[in-house]
Amino acid sequence: MSQNIESHLVENRVIKPSRDFSKNARIKNMAEYRRMHEASIKNPAKFWAAEAAELQWGRKWKLVLQWKEPFAKWFEGGTINAAENCVDRHAEGDRKNKAAIIWEGEPGEKRTITYGQLRREVSLFANVLKRNGVKKGDRVIIYMPLIPEAAIAMLACARIGAVHSVIFGGFSADSIRDRVADCGATCVVTADGGYRRGSIVPLKQNVDTALAGNKAVKRVIVYRRANNEIPMTKGRDVWWHDEVKHVKADCPIVHHDSEHPLFVLYTSGSTGKPKGILHTTGGFLVQNYSTSKYIFDLREDDIYWCTADVGWVTGHSYLVYGPLAAGATCFMYEGAPNWPEPDRFWQIIEEYGITILYTAPTAIRAFIKWGDEWVDKHDLSSLRLLGSVGEPINPEAWMWYYRKIGGERCPIVDTWWQTETGAIMISPLPGATPLKPGTATLPFFGIDAAVVDNDGKEVPANVGGKLVIRQPWPSMLRTIYGDRARYKKTYWGEIPGFYVSGDGARRDKDGYFWIVGRLDDVLNVAGHRLGTSEIESALVSHELVAEAAAVGRPDEIKGQGVVVFVTLKTGVKPSNELKTNLRNHVGKVIGAIAKPDDIHFAEALPKTRSGKIMRRLLKEIAAGGEVKGDVTTLEDYTVLAKLSAQE
Ligand code: WT7
Repeated sequence: MSQNIESHLVENRVIKPSRDFSKNARIKNMAEYRRMHEASIKNPAKFWAAEAAELQWGRKWKLVLQWKEPFAKWFEGGTINAAENCVDRHAEGDRKNKAAIIWEGEPGEKRTITYGQLRREVSLFANVLKRNGVKKGDRVIIYMPLIPEAAIAMLACARIGAVHSVIFGGFSADSIRDRVADCGATCVVTADGGYRRGSIVPLKQNVDTALAGNKAVKRVIVYRRANNEIPMTKGRDVWWHDEVKHVKADCPIVHHDSEHPLFVLYTSGSTGKPKGILHTTGGFLVQNYSTSKYIFDLREDDIYWCTADVGWVTGHSYLVYGPLAAGATCFMYEGAPNWPEPDRFWQIIEEYGITILYTAPTAIRAFIKWGDEWVDKHDLSSLRLLGSVGEPINPEAWMWYYRKIGGERCPIVDTWWQTETGAIMISPLPGATPLKPGTATLPFFGIDAAVVDNDGKEVPANVGGKLVIRQPWPSMLRTIYGDRARYKKTYWGEIPGFYVSGDGARRDKDGYFWIVGRLDDVLNVAGHRLGTSEIESALVSHELVAEAAAVGRPDEIKGQGVVVFVTLKTGVKPSNELKTNLRNHVGKVIGAIAKPDDIHFAEALPKTRSGKIMRRLLKEIAAGGEVKGDVTTLEDYTVLAKLSAQE
């Protein structure tokens, strides 16, 4: 037991950074953090300009920030290329032969790609994109397994100024269809298949289904990964390995406007279809570079492993752009953490000597459940820093991570941010911040975070409120693709001048931020957002369903599980078989991550007099509890009784 743990009471445990860690860290103590944070809030432009100056620009910016609420332009007048910063500038210097990506496939293949090789691969594929008609500004869908080519495709897009939109390989054909249409993509990059728990995910087949009837997509470029049999559509589909034979390995850098779009990434909101979050180049890169440097405190000899898939924002920011901009060695693993056995992660850490591990609370809870014996089989002494992202981490899971994985030696950076924020916003600095299990602690430099009431007034310590950001930041979303009005309303419409995150939080007496979760109708399942309305729409699209309501309930592993209440069309009989069909239907429409854990059939859903479904009541039923809340606005009391009685 570390002497640093001052108390066993959950709220009071404080773990100070060890002297060993602090002495080599960039920020060594709290005085240093506070001084820099204060200065950076008074003059954010100065802080961010100094960070930006560490990157390579074509032409230097004229203005650090132009802010016409809610529209920001960062490093205005500057030109930059993300691929040059993540690849070429290292490939041309001392890091030429340093590993940029070390990869392991689920079946066990191993590859190492140096910065020099990565420049060649990215250039080749950038030329392949050009050869296939992709131009600056065109949208390219990337639907790939977690293989180096996913990162190569992203960087190749960035190189030529094409806008990538990565879709997580677990999403269904219907999800691909919607995203392709929304962003107006003309090219899709995919693979024949990918590996997951020993079986092959039919990626190309899903793309084919999604593109049936689509006329806008002119090219599908297919990487051969799993060797599964797939049809190729003449005139539309080409093989990656054939195409690279026809192009040169030289693709000169063209600098793009700092505000040129880098990517669109879809995420769930509380209403309607997923939102295409648009990020641009200069600001996104600067904040990802800066946070990677200070929060992961990257060293030249680190082997850094972010376990996220490229299909989520964490994969964009901290598997690709941030660490590569910082010249780090990134480890990448294709498959499941429990394949073939529950010790795959620990085996990897031991074998490769991973020094930094960045993962999610849902994974940590699964490891705890699988048992310590899987961890005990391996030597994890190479680790020096741990990270967590995606949802609040339960203090007990935090302690397990700290003791069992980190050997009480490694600080844990619990990083709060969102697809919209583009990069980490609230996080400890590992050499400075005293840690408390369960809190993301304090804002990063230049980030003016606060907890406020509905009028935007800061609430006193330990009082709950809305988590807002009071000044623009470089990696903030610029808009929702194709819907500026929705962007304005969703994020900047609630409290004038403030970005409203949708999360609830409180600050303790030390100013630490304790995130309590989403305030809107958005679930956090296994660290990823799912809009309840998306799940409801998927259910209602089934021919036998009349109405549906989806709510979350606490889940030991996933954080939140999905529970749905369904009313069927007249004359349809509820059955277990129908439950299975509905689960599969949601899986087909959205993806396996959205499959309900539990389905209740009801004769009617409880509603207010104005016709709104009373989710609060459904939540209580979903959690297995009694209905305690106020029910005076219930339209039909008997509906509730029937629901409660039902199994
Ligand atoms: C939502 C954003 C950020 C990349 C992964 C998810 C929750 C995220 C934390 C954390 C407490 C967290 C919030 C946030 N969240 N990190 N360290 N502590 N909550 O990205 O899908 O855009 O979800 O995840 O509720 O709003 P996302």
